[in-house]
Amino acid sequence: MILVKGGVLIKEQTALQFANVDFKYNGTGSSIVENLNFTIKEGEFVSIIGPSGSGKTTLFRLITGLENPSSGSVNIDGSASSHRLGSVGYMPQQDLLLPWRTVYDNVTLPLELKAAKQSISQEEVFDLLQEFGLKGFESSFPSQLSGGMKQRVSFLRTIITGSNILLLDEPFSALDAITRLTMQEWLLEKWDKFQKTILFITHDVDEALFLSDRIFVVRDKPIQEFTEVTVPLSRPRKIRDLANQEIINIKEQLIDQLRMKVHHG
Ligand SMILES: Nc1ncnc2c1ncn2[C@@H]1O[C@H](COP(=O)(O)OP(=O)(O)O)[C@@H](O)[C@H]1O
Ligand SMILES: [Mg+2]
Repeated sequence: MILVKGGVLIKEQTALQFANVDFKYNGTGSSIVENLNFTIKEGEFVSIIGPSGSGKTTLFRLITGLENPSSGSVNIDGSASSHRLGSVGYMPQQDLLLPWRTVYDNVTLPLELKAAKQSISQEEVFDLLQEFGLKGFESSFPSQLSGGMKQRVSFLRTIITGSNILLLDEPFSALDAITRLTMQEWLLEKWDKFQKTILFITHDVDEALFLSDRIFVVRDKPIQEFTEVTVPLSRPRKIRDLANQEIINIKEQLIDQLRMKVHHG
């Protein structure tokens, strides 16, 4: 398939594919994922939304290779490998910044662990810190930062892995509403600039609509398939786009789908 981005024709490549994936945690009886199939294209922004405990974080653990499918395969850039950890950048649900390390030392952790696919000079790290609004805070410790800044440090650390696929697990859920909005706009700008493929877990329907090309709604347990919604908004987006009638209708539909799960489950 061919698509046009910025006036340039490019081939649409698959970044990530689940093929007939089954998964249950060792020693537990119930499946979390059952015969799941889906594909994410390079450069896409896809959100996963669903009730807590439905298996969203488990999907990320399967993608990183922290867990492996009981059967089926998880393919990245067209190949199935059990060493996926280096191929994706994973920003877990808690920020996991090391409190005893400075901003600079937290950000460059992937380089030290050799978990990065690229080598970056100190100068490039400083440029990125500036780009991420962290200039002047290189020597600060996480406890000295605001919530939004901590998330930017954590996100920059994920970018520094050099991976093309970024997995962000509810990155903004602990932020206040205004900071969250600023961070959403900021994330879209960075996504556009760094040309990454992003999978984003959220509880927030507005957040999913504002950010995503497609939204995967988790409705069953085990996860067998997603109810999928394509967001009919062009880019760049403005927050007021969420007030258009077509989006309001989709929002109501999404809320109904999520609510139904609660009633039936
Ligand atoms: N390491 C684990 N061992 C056993 N069960 C787990 C483990 N991690 C998560 N679970 C269970 O798997 C289910 C899905 O969890 P999770 O993927 O964290 O859901 P979500 O991110 O949607 O809230 C839950 O029932 C949870 O208790
Ligand atoms: Mg989770």
